[in-house]
Parts: sequence; structure tokens; C-alpha cells
Amino acid sequence: MKTLTLKNETIYTGDLILVNRDYRYHEKKQIPLSEIPENHGSVLLHHRAARALSLLMNAVSGWQGIVATSGWRPFSEQQRIWSDSLKENGRHFTETYVAVPGHSEHQTGLAVDLALKQPLIDPIRPHFPYEGICQLFREKAPQFGFIERYPDGRESITGIGHEPWHFRYVGIAHARIITKNRLTLEEYIEQIKAYPFGKRGLSYQGNGRHFTVSYQKASASGTTILETEDNVCCSVSGNNSDGFIITEWKQTEKA
Ligand code: DAL
Ligand code: ZN
Repeated sequence: MKTLTLKNETIYTGDLILVNRDYRYHEKKQIPLSEIPENHGSVLLHHRAARALSLLMNAVSGWQGIVATSGWRPFSEQQRIWSDSLKENGRHFTETYVAVPGHSEHQTGLAVDLALKQPLIDPIRPHFPYEGICQLFREKAPQFGFIERYPDGRESITGIGHEPWHFRYVGIAHARIITKNRLTLEEYIEQIKAYPFGKRGLSYQGNGRHFTVSYQKASASGTTILETEDNVCCSVSGNNSDGFIITEWKQTEKA
């Protein structure tokens, strides 16, 4: 058996943290950022998300027609966007399309805004249509770990208007489960709580691997100890509120 020792500060880090109007971004440590390669203009993402985006763009030959307009934003930039938009567009528009400073996924480095390459690009609502190269990107995105984060008709759950241009990196298994089941990240994070660690987890088969996803509430003592099997790979993310999401996988086919 392998022992995982999880400090409570881990609740606020990882690919699955839920950052929205209810849960602000807490992380104090510096995020490992990379520039998105081949993009027109410098846009930074968490290095895992930058690498996944680069692979995805190469898979759809996307750089001809797509440009990343915004990735990681420090709190100060989110605040500037929020206050400029309040002045220019008013409160209703701003609350619909701009996250309250401190509550933006862009602060995590795991979210990216994409635009169809055009001479004029709207910085808050870039055009990223459901056709052509943008749609091809959207359809392939889960295979590389990205979800369309703010779908049409789910505004009351996400707290944000429909944003066809905003993609969030969550990792391949999670992106595929979320997309297949037409969930928002809010619903997925909630549903995982029905699969406590050590019991039968949420199962997913894909990419030659068998994945099991489960949840562990953080211990009140400040340290949570978990035991996993030796022959299973495992990664842990906080959920940004009260616990951890454990992803375990076994290779089922030769790579
Ligand atoms: N446009 C998204 C919601 C943000 O500001 O984070
Ligand atoms: Zn965005």
C-alpha cells in the first residue's frame, strides 16, 4: 500500500478546483506558468494546461484560425477588467461576463479564452462560433483535458453567462466524463461526493486506461491520510471547498 498525506491547504490546489461566485481562488503559491507556444501574443497558462492546449491545437491544426486572447490573470488584472467593464458596459453585462475579482478561473492559470482569428477581437466576448475550426477544437477539447466551462442554459448553475470562448483545463478523464454527461463543473464536483474514497468509485474507461474517481472530505485535524494500492497510479486535486478528489488509474491496453 502507498500512503498519501494531504494537508488541508491542498484543498485549494489542483486541476479540479471549483472557482466561481461561491468559492474564491485561495492559492498563494506561485503557479508554474508557461507561455502558450505558437500563439500570436504572449498568453500564460499553468504549464500542464499550456502543454495540453498546444497538443490540442496541433491535433486540429488550429493555429491558422484560432488565437488565445487571455489565459492566466493576476488578481490586479481581473480587477482592472471588472472596473473598466463596469464603466463601459454597466453592472448587468459585467456580472454576466466578468467574474468578481478573486473569483475568476483565469487566476488559476487553468482557463483560456479563444477567438476566431479576425482583425477585430472583442476582449471580453471573443467570437468563437459553433462551426468550422472553432467547433472542431471544441469537439476535440475533452480528449486533451478541456471543457467548455459556461454552457448555454446553465447560467443559473455557473453564475456566468454563456461563454462559447472560455475553456477550462480539468484533465482528460474528468473532461470526458463532464462532456459526455453534459455537466457543469459545479454539478460534477457535487456528484463526485457520492463516491467516497475506499468504496466503489466513479468509473471511466478511455485512452487505454481504467480511471476511478472518488472523494474524501478533509479531516478536521488538518491532515488527511489515505492508503492506495501499489499498482495503481493516483493523482489528487482539492475541490476548493472541503476536500479532495482522488483519480486512480490502471493501464488496460498497451500504450
Ligand atoms: N469571463 C470569466 C467568467 C472570468 O472573468 O473569469
Ligand atoms: Zn475566460
